[in-house]
Amino acid sequence: MLNFTFSNKTRIHFGEQQIKQVTQEIPLDARVLITYGGGSIKKNGVYDQVIAALTGHTVFEFSGIEPNPSYETSMKAVALVKQENIDYILAVGGGSVIDASKFIAAAAHFNGEPWDILIKGAAVESAIKLGAVLTLPATGSESNGGSVITKLATKDKLPFMSAHVLPLFAVLDPSVMDSLPARQLSNGVVDAFIHTTEQYLTYDVDAKIQDRFAEGILLTLIEEGPKLFSAEKTNAVNANVMWSATQALNGLIGSGVPHDWATHMIGHELTASFGLDHAQTLAIVLPRLMWEMRESKEGKLLQYAERVWGITEGDVETRIKQVIEKTEQFFHSVQMKTRLSDYDLDATSIDVVIEQLERHGMTQLGERQLVTLERSRNILMNSL
Ligand code: NZQ
Ligand code: ZN
Repeated sequence: MLNFTFSNKTRIHFGEQQIKQVTQEIPLDARVLITYGGGSIKKNGVYDQVIAALTGHTVFEFSGIEPNPSYETSMKAVALVKQENIDYILAVGGGSVIDASKFIAAAAHFNGEPWDILIKGAAVESAIKLGAVLTLPATGSESNGGSVITKLATKDKLPFMSAHVLPLFAVLDPSVMDSLPARQLSNGVVDAFIHTTEQYLTYDVDAKIQDRFAEGILLTLIEEGPKLFSAEKTNAVNANVMWSATQALNGLIGSGVPHDWATHMIGHELTASFGLDHAQTLAIVLPRLMWEMRESKEGKLLQYAERVWGITEGDVETRIKQVIEKTEQFFHSVQMKTRLSDYDLDATSIDVVIEQLERHGMTQLGERQLVTLERSRNILMNSL
């Protein structure tokens, strides 16, 4: 196992009717900005519950945060934060609203041009306090210090990490999933699954707890994910999927193990240039990345094949082919497509992605920096 320091201070309130916990989480004298997206929270009752919980608080609102949140929109909120002396942000939404709120919280305290946090990796030294009411289980953003922001002007979709933007608390009420369209349920399951593989399908460092825990998350998503699209969708199913997504990216399974993230970096370029949903890009890239990188990932691919899918027969190549096929079938079982051509993208789109990867310095990705531009191109060509 590699050395690590682990801390996760987000207090989680999990279960039905937990939105009311917001009342005691946010100090009464705080000046609170509620941030949200395109309005789903007004249709499903979440907004009303949040407002009820904040009766007695001083509350402002900022809406219109888009999926794949932009720097441009976020900076409008930064202006409001400064104008109204906001000292607590409550993000109510999915990963996009929470990510944007993290950037807003950091940018409001930043001396200089906040885009430097993303493009130059400028250090975040402090941020406004942040809490979250999660409405879409997928990213783990409700309980991690990561955020991904897009500059529309240049199609740069870039991540930053800071412990200062870790939400202080998060409410996870699985019943909010009842209003999610099928497309977002698919996105959630696949994103959580691939967060797990990014931290598991690398090379063995004898980290037994992390491996078994990652396999537990994968098995839970394989068992519960397809039920979301059938009459078997119950609140218990929602709860198990929601908790899987948080656990997949709250730092625990990633402690003391190598990380990959090449699928994510290639995927971010597909979203920035062609507008595919985040998880849609991952489901295209991962199966072919598993194949392209099969030699350096061999040990973990065989472990994944055996422990998650029960594949033990045949030579190494046969088993790897089988496990990739199983993984892709699983994505299909949660109504997720796995080819570029499913989104009308052809080889010309691959040139665009490769150019953008180069411009962003993403030329040696993966746990061993072996995913060169040539390999990224192979992965995408095989994904057509
Ligand atoms: O904007 P509203 O009207 O709220 O609608 C949203 C949005 O259109 C809707 N939605 C959310 N909850 C709903 C709902 N509709 C009905 N009922 C509900 N309960 O769903 C749509 C998509 O929401 P979004 O927040 O964009 O989805 P997701 O949670 O998948 O977040 C994706 C973003 O997170 C980033 C991605 O790159 C992408 O920008 N990621 C963030 C990570 C992190 N912070 O750790 C890691 C991930 O790998 C990922 O990169
Ligand atoms: Zn992701």
